[in-house]
Amino acid sequence: MRLGRIYTENCLSTMQRMDDDFLDMTITSPPYDDLRDYNGYHFPVEEIAESLFRKTKTGGVVIWVVGDRTVNGNETLTSFRHALTFQDIGFRVHDTMIYVKNNPIPSDCGRRYRQAFEYMFCFSKGQPKTFDPITEPTKSAGQQITAFRITGKGRGNVPDEDIGRKIKSERKVTNIFGYNVGTSSSKDKIAFRHPAIFPELLVADQIRSWTKPGDIVYDCFMGSGTTAKIAHQLDRQWLGSEVSEEYVAIAYERLRPYIPQLDLAAAG
Ligand SMILES: C[S@@+](CC[C@H](N)C(=O)[O-])C[C@H]1O[C@@H](n2cnc3c(N)ncnc32)[C@H](O)[C@@H]1O
Repeated sequence: MRLGRIYTENCLSTMQRMDDDFLDMTITSPPYDDLRDYNGYHFPVEEIAESLFRKTKTGGVVIWVVGDRTVNGNETLTSFRHALTFQDIGFRVHDTMIYVKNNPIPSDCGRRYRQAFEYMFCFSKGQPKTFDPITEPTKSAGQQITAFRITGKGRGNVPDEDIGRKIKSERKVTNIFGYNVGTSSSKDKIAFRHPAIFPELLVADQIRSWTKPGDIVYDCFMGSGTTAKIAHQLDRQWLGSEVSEEYVAIAYERLRPYIPQLDLAAAG
């Protein structure tokens, strides 16, 4: 299996040729909004989840970015079904993170609020072997924690083991991440020839959190090549699958300025 290339085929075929326990991380967004093309749940999510489980190293993770459509006034709950499927076949649902769109596409949603988020499920094969969390400065660094402390909501109880401890200067951010979507999510104009690209920052945050330089990152639905670009920039090895020749061509054109050594002839 060659790294640094996008295989123009169904991801199940790519994974069939892959050694077991090969991947440190998969980050991907399944084609959930094309449900009509896949006749509802005939999108083979069980088969894909099973293959990903076999191909992921123990301690590796899958970041599965997915939302729900509303059909005839009823949310599909595709996201929940996918999460239950991954759990049933052996992954842990390690963290259900939320990706909030800072600038959601304007739409008339009838008698409901504007839809502005997707799930970023972190499915892990056992305990994640790498976690390098994003942190933020704390406001009360150095202060000692007492039995009660003032919180935004009033006085809060503190667990016994935390009393007397000094507040650290940094803390982990929450599992709700905000990203710009649309043209401000990437400078690569060509990427927008694909209808549903990842914000580049989302991919960077997730790759940095769950892998080390040199690790192997896979995207089974590579689309415009966002995962390939960011993995390369962060010194990770990468490979992907994309069933559409048109999108593979877009991805390679996008990647060429960043990865001049890319073997364009290898596409497909
Ligand atoms: C939501 S898009 C992914 C976009 C990508 N995250 C990006 O930043 O450009 C899903 C992609 O999966 C591709 N696809 C659908 N079924 C596939 C399959 N079985 N194997 C590989 N690719 C597939 C579609 O052609 C589409 O480009």
